Amino acid sequence: SSILEPGITFINKELKGKNIDRIDRRLKNLKDIFFDKTALEKMDPETVVYEVESYFPVEHDIEGGLFYGITYIHPGTVGNEYFMTKGHFHKIRNRGEFYCTLQGEGMLILMDENRNTWAEKMYPGSIHYIKGNTAHRTANTGNTILSFSAFWPSDAGHDYATISEQGFSKILVQRQGKPELISR
Ligand code: 6PG
Ligand code: NI
Repeated sequence: SSILEPGITFINKELKGKNIDRIDRRLKNLKDIFFDKTALEKMDPETVVYEVESYFPVEHDIEGGLFYGITYIHPGTVGNEYFMTKGHFHKIRNRGEFYCTLQGEGMLILMDENRNTWAEKMYPGSIHYIKGNTAHRTANTGNTILSFSAFWPSDAGHDYATISEQGFSKILVQRQGKPELISR
């Protein structure tokens, strides 16, 4: 079972123990993505923003395999921007993905290759289909951990550079206690 998510049990032996990768992303790893650099500088760089457990039953770059992962985003803000993931396009651009929210509340921020940005509300049980050629990022808009599972093709890969250089065309901020997607 997952160390972080109570109630998740892996039935298949190949998904227990081996081929599991656990990472955390701290504020010091996320300097590019938050808008309010002044607020960021006042915070502890070791603050954990999110953690990801990934399950790789086949080798990376194998065409036709599937990967599974659970992301846990801690509650918090940098200035008025919610704690969120780096966000990425897949390296093989046309590869899609499914997200399914487990706990908490959040927003899935999506951007196509013409830089049109929109968002979908995440809540326990919400299932999100992320089309190919679409950058994706998730933000925790609640006061508890936001967790969701993801399913993606084994050869998809991650292109982080495009987002770290250009960002999304809109940012998600807290206004009067509510999330709002605004142009930069
Ligand atoms: C993926 C998924 C997902 C994602 C995490 C962390 O393609 O692997 O979209 O597992 O990686 O939610 O987000 P970042 O990869 O953008 O840091
Ligand atoms: Ni992805």
